[in-house]
Amino acid sequence: MSSKPKDRPVLRSARSYGGQGRDGFIHRSWMKSQGLPDDAFDGRPVIGICNTWSELTPCNAGLRDVAEHVKRGVWEAGGLPLEFPAMSLGETQMRPTAMLFRNLLAMEVEESIRGNPIDGVVLLGGCDKTTPGQLLGAASVDLPTMVISSGPMLNGKYRGRDIGSGTDVWRFSEAVRAGTMSTAEFMAAESGMSRSPGTCMTMGSASTIASLAEAMGIALPYNATAPAVDARRRLIAHEGGRLIVRMVHDDLRLSKLLTRAAFENAVRTLAAIGGSTNAVLHLLALAGRVGVPLVLADFDRLSAGVPLLVDLQPSGKYLMEDLHYAGGLPAVMKELGSLLHTAAPTLTGKTLGESCAGAECFNREVIRTLAAPVKPASGIWVLSGNLCPGGAVMKPSAADSALFTHRGRAVVFESIEDFHARIDDPALEVDADSVLVLKGCGPKGYPGMPEVGNMPLPRKLLEKGIKDMLRISDARMSGTAFGTVVLHIAPEAAAGGPLAIVRSGDEILLDGPNRRLELLVSEREIATRLEVWRKNQGPPKYTRGYYRLYTEHVTQADRGCDFDFLAGASGSTVERESH
Ligand code: FES
Repeated sequence: MSSKPKDRPVLRSARSYGGQGRDGFIHRSWMKSQGLPDDAFDGRPVIGICNTWSELTPCNAGLRDVAEHVKRGVWEAGGLPLEFPAMSLGETQMRPTAMLFRNLLAMEVEESIRGNPIDGVVLLGGCDKTTPGQLLGAASVDLPTMVISSGPMLNGKYRGRDIGSGTDVWRFSEAVRAGTMSTAEFMAAESGMSRSPGTCMTMGSASTIASLAEAMGIALPYNATAPAVDARRRLIAHEGGRLIVRMVHDDLRLSKLLTRAAFENAVRTLAAIGGSTNAVLHLLALAGRVGVPLVLADFDRLSAGVPLLVDLQPSGKYLMEDLHYAGGLPAVMKELGSLLHTAAPTLTGKTLGESCAGAECFNREVIRTLAAPVKPASGIWVLSGNLCPGGAVMKPSAADSALFTHRGRAVVFESIEDFHARIDDPALEVDADSVLVLKGCGPKGYPGMPEVGNMPLPRKLLEKGIKDMLRISDARMSGTAFGTVVLHIAPEAAAGGPLAIVRSGDEILLDGPNRRLELLVSEREIATRLEVWRKNQGPPKYTRGYYRLYTEHVTQADRGCDFDFLAGASGSTVERESH
């Protein structure tokens, strides 16, 4: 029998499963073909398990097993679990970039939740764009919702040492180009890097979003860090299944947790963990769905005074497994203390402060104290200036502090193909002080804003031992990447931002401490060049299908790259019957 207390309101699933007439017959009868008994439809909470499992998303390959453990918990608590698939976005597989499809996943998830007779939903995701896409969709329906992540892969191993997803790919590939690593050694690292199902085990975008889900109170403690193959991942799933039933009874909707305080906690936690710049886009878009006023400048303002506490790649040394054994996110958030809104509610019914109160740190090398952090400069710097009227971002913890203030001549690439064709040309006029400028990689221009902002350095400079250069673009970069890289320039070149008219030889100034990015060309000259640029624009390249929808409606990076028509929520009500 259902555990539904008598004084609770009738659930939305009852409209489908509660009737005695023809419609109730139709809704129940076909479901009974799966072997469900009569009392599965007795008014108990129906829990949708939205699963992005796919063999083309290896990071999410463990989610079938996780779903089974969620179901155990749901049944045990008197609910009815029903699993459904959602488009899976494999970051390493999809072209031109998984980010192009985040909003498509969000639309699919939103309509799947709203259109089906479910009362609460568990989002099973992990790989970079899956969890954000699911969350955006779920937020616009606003049922009780929980995030359960794939969990990180086991630490990579190569020749007796730990290696990190992504971060060491960038390092090793530059070493091969510099001539300090052989191709055979490079290939040998391939199998050692990815040793189990799960997400990148560096503090990449997947680990970042899973961590922020904990910080926002929409995921259970240790959800972000328990390795994908650890039994505790299954325990979290089982407990999550029980809890989501209670959340439905308590009508604990996503909007009750995703408050301004929750977003502020996320931004500060992002700084403390040295999280991915991609989180900026996803949090801005999510705030737009739930109507929380969050703007790009908040990321800089809120992360001021929050040092880097977690020594994880790419900003530091260790990996997610180490963070889990060191105490996980609860230990990090306990250290942050009053820098967080500890009274913010979480899905368990406890406040965030209560949730972290019992956490302990078992390894101060991995989780540092506020008094002795990994680095004092962390978080996200939000730049302004005539080269980025809508803003741009930079991650100081992953950059070379010697380049925080830098003036140099631009070496411009009109596209990523142009970049690949010329970057290793011995005749390329470039030196260590040059500023590499990449255009055409924004949301509309690519389309989809790929992770190419951490451009490889010119081979001839790598061979001289140069390890970092100032690079600027309208692209994103992988959360696993590092370097002095200015990203997310808005408006992007393809939207007519000033980036479009930068020429090789122009001087560019980055003044990180004062958050300025300037093209040192007169305003008059900029206006003249932009006028010529506009006149030379042809008709839109994409005339049909999703690419057309995307390029016509995607917003710029400073608004999170959501579609303009998807901001806000439509709730869970569906007025009309299907038959
Ligand atoms: Fe899937 Fe990194 S590629 S989480």
